[in-house]
Formats: sequence, C-alpha cells, structure tokens
Amino acid sequence: MTGPEWAVELAGRLPQSWRDVVSPPPDVAAEVEGYLVAAPPDVLDESHLAALVEHVAADDALWAPLVIADPARRRYRLAYEDERLDLWVLSWMPGQGTGFHDHGTSAVALTAVQGSVRERRLNAAVGPVGQLLEPGEIRTGRGGYIHAVEHDTGLPAVTIHAYSPPLLEVGQYRASSDGLLWRELQHGRQELLDHTFDVASAHAGVTHS
Ligand SMILES: [Fe+2]
Repeated sequence: MTGPEWAVELAGRLPQSWRDVVSPPPDVAAEVEGYLVAAPPDVLDESHLAALVEHVAADDALWAPLVIADPARRRYRLAYEDERLDLWVLSWMPGQGTGFHDHGTSAVALTAVQGSVRERRLNAAVGPVGQLLEPGEIRTGRGGYIHAVEHDTGLPAVTIHAYSPPLLEVGQYRASSDGLLWRELQHGRQELLDHTFDVASAHAGVTHS
C-alpha cells in the first residue's frame, strides 16, 4: 500500500511506513472489537466514544505499544477502525501541537494517559481559552467541535482519541497575511501543523490562556 500523496511524503520523512501508522496491532484491534460488540451498530455518540477511550486508557497494553517519542514531529498511530469509528493513540513531545481545527461531521472523545496536553477552544467573546487535559479526564465534542491541542508535560504526552463517523476530513483554521480567518479542508489523517491563526491573533492582542 502506498497511500495518498501526502501520506507518501509523510512516510518519507519518518522512520516508519504509512502502513505502520494505519495498521493496528492485531491483539489491540481484536480487544477493541470485542469491547465494541455492545456498541451501537451505526454512528457512536459522544457518550459512547467517551466510554471507549476510557476503556482503552484503563489498559496500557492497548495503547503503550503505539507510543512513539519523536522530537521531530507529533506521532499518531491507528489502534482500531471500522465503518463506525476510528481510534488513535497520539504522542506529543515539547513544542508539538495541532493549531485550531474541526473534525468535520465526526464527534470526538479524547483523554490523556501519560503526561498532559493543553486543549484550547475558541470563545467568541474572549478568543482562545485553554484547559489542561490530564490522565483521568475525558473531553468530548459533537461534529463541528473546534479546538487546538498541544503538548504540556510528558516525554511524550500520550492521548487517546476516538472519532465517529471515522475522521475522513478536518478543517484547519488558518489566517491569511491580512489576518482573515479561513478554513482549509484536509484529509482526516493528514498531520495538522498550521499555527497562523495563533500568530495573527497574538498580533491582535488576543490572550492565549
Ligand atoms: Fe482534534
């Protein structure tokens, strides 16, 4: 499997193949599949996604094999997928973050299992508002949920994310050179890296809590 053009480019810069990124360990996938037998047959809502990430977080045999400490770039590995959802383990090193984005029509649940990340959401009145996500905490959002996530503590910080329907598209929020906000549609499995929104809002004096 060669994957899409951007995936080939990504694989070329990483000491692993795109096949590795999107190939869950069989024992991990089998365990999650067994857990999901009792889940709805179609799209999972926020509560079901939260229960799933809580279940996976409670057993480090399910996520620890997918952790990668890479100072060069944020790593993400697929832990499970079916027609209803996909489940990812993300590893964050200092300085690594996503920039603001949404998840298209997918609902999301995320939790931390090692270290912590800072999640920021956009308050229309005051701008970005940050909140740490630490082990034992779960954050959820329905389709259209907008946030940015970045490393806080841990080498690496490790988070678990579930999306339903599967994350096929994301909207990355960018600021053009004249400061206007726009949404760039990207494939859901493309690495999010754009921070132009933060740069532009910092110039405007918006607080980044
Ligand atoms: Fe996200």
